[in-house]
Amino acid sequence: GTGLRSLAPANLRIGSAMEMKLLDADPRFRDIFTTNFNALTAENAMKWRNLEPTRGGYNWTPSDQLVEFGQAHGQAVYGHTLVWHTAVPSWIDESWDTETIRDLLRNHVTTVVGRYRGKVWAWDVVNEVLDEQGGLRDTIWLRKLGPGYIADAFRWAHEADPNARLFINEYGTEGRTRKADGLFRLVRELRAVGVPVHGVGFQSHLRWDRTPDDTTGNLRRFADLGVSVAITELDVRITLPVTPEKLQRQERLYRHMLRACLTVPTCESFTVWGFSDATSWINTTYPDHGAACVFDADLEPKPAYDALVETL
Ligand code: XIL
Repeated sequence: GTGLRSLAPANLRIGSAMEMKLLDADPRFRDIFTTNFNALTAENAMKWRNLEPTRGGYNWTPSDQLVEFGQAHGQAVYGHTLVWHTAVPSWIDESWDTETIRDLLRNHVTTVVGRYRGKVWAWDVVNEVLDEQGGLRDTIWLRKLGPGYIADAFRWAHEADPNARLFINEYGTEGRTRKADGLFRLVRELRAVGVPVHGVGFQSHLRWDRTPDDTTGNLRRFADLGVSVAITELDVRITLPVTPEKLQRQERLYRHMLRACLTVPTCESFTVWGFSDATSWINTTYPDHGAACVFDADLEPKPAYDALVETL
């Protein structure tokens, strides 16, 4: 049948976060996924902690399988994510010297990007590197390597796959926030000194009762720096219980984000962080919230799904 992917303009990919085990578990789920989406992001499989649970002990299987699934179904693979403070493997010891830590990070970036060279169209090179004030977040990478780790990560990734599009990904920066201003300054500085940053990803984990301020204008100022933009992890969580009014507010937010992306010519992809209320990460991460996706727990389309169809 027709799905979102067939309605989208040629220059825009429509994606969802995905896990191999969800595809294996339910053929109906798999059908909806392949009908509607022409891009996928590994929800967890490509995070360092999962790829290399013990030092040098790689588990490539779930990630390789997702890449193969994408290739078999005409879905571009968005790589997520190389440098993220919450996905640091537990075997890395911050007391190790700077050179050791730097070598480990470089080796990680080079190994992962190299393995999927030509198969992953874009990478979230760094994820969530800012604090809420728009300064650099205090992480092991900043503490050990200093602010230059960001530029280094981009350069290493670029060397490992010169054709991959390299993104910086962040949350709470969809609208005009202080953090978005910080992100803007950071991207401008990186570009000014020739760091290969090609795009900015806006996670967009939204709540039903808050609309980001001037999303279109915000995305546009980044595009004006000469980079692509992408909606990378959209969901709209609802405080339970769900009501028709909240579903309508949710529908408006999905529409708001897609409109902004369609309005900015360099918006290359629009990705939801899962499409089923049955399996969304929101259910376990935000205790009193749920129903964040465009299909309900029985895999029936919600008003938000119809809004995406209409808007495309
Ligand atoms: C989340 C996954 O959805 C969960 O399954 C996992 O337990 C934790 O990570 N920002 C990101 C994503 O960049 O990687 C996160 O994904 C959600 C927030």
